[in-house]
Amino acid sequence: MDKTIQHWEQRGKQSFTYKGEDFYTITPAPFYYYRRNKILCFIKKQLDSLEKSCVLDFGCGDGYYSIFFSKQTEHLRFYGCDTSKAFINRAKINNKINSADVEFREIKNGIPFNKKFSLIFIISVFAHIYEDTEILRIIGEFNYKLFKNGLLVLVESTAKKSRGNKINKRRKISDYINYFNLDYDVIDITHNPKLFQTFINRTLLFFLRLLFFNNNGVLANKNRFYILISEVVYWFSTKIDALFKNSDGYTFFAFKKK
Ligand SMILES: C[S@@+](CC[C@H](N)C(=O)[O-])C[C@H]1O[C@@H](n2cnc3c(N)ncnc32)[C@H](O)[C@@H]1O
Repeated sequence: MDKTIQHWEQRGKQSFTYKGEDFYTITPAPFYYYRRNKILCFIKKQLDSLEKSCVLDFGCGDGYYSIFFSKQTEHLRFYGCDTSKAFINRAKINNKINSADVEFREIKNGIPFNKKFSLIFIISVFAHIYEDTEILRIIGEFNYKLFKNGLLVLVESTAKKSRGNKINKRRKISDYINYFNLDYDVIDITHNPKLFQTFINRTLLFFLRLLFFNNNGVLANKNRFYILISEVVYWFSTKIDALFKNSDGYTFFAFKKK
C-alpha cells in the first residue's frame, strides 16, 4: 500500500477525547480546537451566501465539518469524499450518531458523485499531497464539478517558503493563488499567523512528548498534563503570534469560479 494511504488508514483508526468530543489530530488538542472554531466561522460566512444547493467536503476525514453544517443549514445538501476507507467508515458512523444526512463516499477514481456543487471546501488536504501536478489534477476535477460562480473554500497551512515532506508540505500563499489563478477570482484571503505555535509544536511539545509520554501526537493528547501545558502554551502563543506578520500560519482562501 502507498505510504501516504497507509498513514491515513492508520490515523483514521486513532482517537482521543477532548471537551467531550472525539478527535484524531496529532496537533495539541487546544491548538486544534480553537483553529477549528475559526475555520467553522469562515466557511459558515461563505455558506450563508448560498441558496438551495449541494456542497462538497473534499478530503472530509471523519466528516466533522459537513456533519456540523448539515445540522445548521437545512436548505443545503452535503456530500463528503476521501481517499481513506478508514475515515469514510468513521464519517459514516459519526453521521449516524449525530442523526445527520450527509452522504459519504470513498474516492477510488475521481470525485464519486455524479452531480455539480455550488460550493466545495477542502480543509487541510493539499498540505498532504506532495506533487503539484496531483493538486492541479484535482483542481481540474473541481472545475467540472463546480457551477459557474460556484465557491471554492480552501484552508491550508502556509509558509514564507515552501517546505516539508511527502506527508506534510507547507506551500506559499502565492502558490495556492497561482493554482487557481486561471479559472477563479479571489474573493477572500485571511491569513492566521502562527510562527510561535509552529515553533512550540516542533520543539517544546515534541520534547515533552518524547520525555514524558509517547511521541505519537494522538496518544500524547490523551494525557491530561500534556493538555494542560498545551492550554497554557496556546494562550501565550496567540499573544505572541499577534505581533507577527507574513509568518507561517494557516490561511483561509475563498475563490469564485469565473
Ligand atoms: C488532516 S486530514 C483533514 C480532514 C478534514 N478535511 C478535516 O479538516 O477534519 C487530511 C485528509 O485528507 C485525506 N486525503 C489525503 N490525500 C487525499 C487525496 N489525494 N484526495 C482526497 N483526500 C485525501 C486524508 O485521507 C485525510 O482524511
